[in-house]
Amino acid sequence: MEKQIKIFDTTLRDGEQTPGVNLNLHEKLEIAAQLERLGVDVIEAGFAVASPGDFEAVREVARHIKKCTIASLARTMEKDIDRAWEAVKEAASPRIHTFIATSDIHMKHKLRMTEEQVLDRAAAMVRYAKKYCEDIEFSPEDAGRSRPEFLYRILEAVIKAGATCVNIPDTVGYTVPHEFGTLINGIKNNVTNIDKADISVHCHNDLGLAAANSLAALENGATQLECTVNGLGERAGNAAIEELIMAIGTRKDYFNVNHSIDTTQIYRTSKLVSSLTGIKVQPNKAIVGSNAFAHESGIHQHGVLSEKSTYEIMTPESIGLTQNRMILGKLSGRHAFEERLKEMGYTALSKEEIKKAFEKFKALADKKKIVLDRDIEALIEEKVSQVPEVFELVSFQINSGNKLISTAVVGIKRNGVVTTEAATGDGPVDAAFNAMERVVGLDLKLEDYGLKAVTEGKDALGEVTVRVSLKGGIFVGRGISTDVIEASIKAYLNAINRIAIEKNEYGS
Ligand code: KIV
Ligand code: ZN
Repeated sequence: MEKQIKIFDTTLRDGEQTPGVNLNLHEKLEIAAQLERLGVDVIEAGFAVASPGDFEAVREVARHIKKCTIASLARTMEKDIDRAWEAVKEAASPRIHTFIATSDIHMKHKLRMTEEQVLDRAAAMVRYAKKYCEDIEFSPEDAGRSRPEFLYRILEAVIKAGATCVNIPDTVGYTVPHEFGTLINGIKNNVTNIDKADISVHCHNDLGLAAANSLAALENGATQLECTVNGLGERAGNAAIEELIMAIGTRKDYFNVNHSIDTTQIYRTSKLVSSLTGIKVQPNKAIVGSNAFAHESGIHQHGVLSEKSTYEIMTPESIGLTQNRMILGKLSGRHAFEERLKEMGYTALSKEEIKKAFEKFKALADKKKIVLDRDIEALIEEKVSQVPEVFELVSFQINSGNKLISTAVVGIKRNGVVTTEAATGDGPVDAAFNAMERVVGLDLKLEDYGLKAVTEGKDALGEVTVRVSLKGGIFVGRGISTDVIEASIKAYLNAINRIAIEKNEYGS
């Protein structure tokens, strides 16, 4: 039979301990409401005794959220437990989560207590909390570095005192998956009353193993996983809820467990937490990073376009994204390019037009890391505004500087013959235009010149539009390139070719 596990979210408590994160009451309520929509079983809303602000936040979350258990953290101290209860008592389902450290390092240097003292305090405080609340979670802090035999004894004692959930924290992210799984297995087999409590795990990510350790624990009998949205938390953070849930779901064949999470809320939750905490999600972050469903290489894009499962082990829709993202770049193939053209509405282009546009796209992708839709639009529009190339640009060379007279050498081909001319000018563009006029033998007047960036960034495409006059007629030319001088030359040549065609100035 499939096992049902609980998801305990501590974004508002351990997640808020992320350096630089400080959420106000309104923000905490917004996150709590989204966690409720996401379907977590338990929300740890804060550490009530820590500050009046924390207390108020836990109490307000407890008042507003109806579908989840609301927990407050408390040390094994009466004043902490009193405050925690005061904050959660109005919840539909309240929980007090109390903890004390059990590793030799913490007991010796932090608590200055012996094992016996720690065990007695833990049991006494669970008994104390039990007077208030039925649902009590106990955590032996730094369990990952605690003596397993001591853990068995203290867990047995707190369950006897009334704990309904025993949480095993790898507080400093020290353990490795097989070892942590073995620890959970040991607890399951050596704590005689363990069947009376949930076994929870709480893994930190100092070695990048938080999700792997949590899943190893799951395989060994854990029934509750503690985690945070986007993996926020102390130092390197906690196990990320999105990673745990999607691993369990994608590998249901392996884990065979059920949970109550609505995975289609994952992306939205991640975005909300990222924007309210100000902690950006790295692009290559599993599940919710902006690249998690993006395909750049031509081979991958072709595969995904033929059959998504070739390179996608889960669908973007399953986490609430509308679609995957094909990154068009220098490795992209013709197939992905054509597909993108269709998605953008360019359905009426001929094979020849697509071929030309693809060549231009490749040339652009060589210069520009990512080709955006607006770049493609500019390429297609440039193509549409093309006229037959009576004159073709072969080469140009510009010499310009603040202490130099700008000079340009431009080579242009007509009827298979290349003519090269040099000219000076008032700036590099003017010099290039003068050289081009020499080649084509026209005396043009530049009426208007406009330059705009098609996209953002230093490598953006520049689009130049020129209006030139000749014998009373006005001719428009457009050119685009990542190099604004080249875009200017192309625009001027485009106008010259219009003159050539429309005025039949040169025959053909
Ligand atoms: O990491 C930890 O040990 C904790 C406990 C308080 C559960 O956050
Ligand atoms: Zn923690």
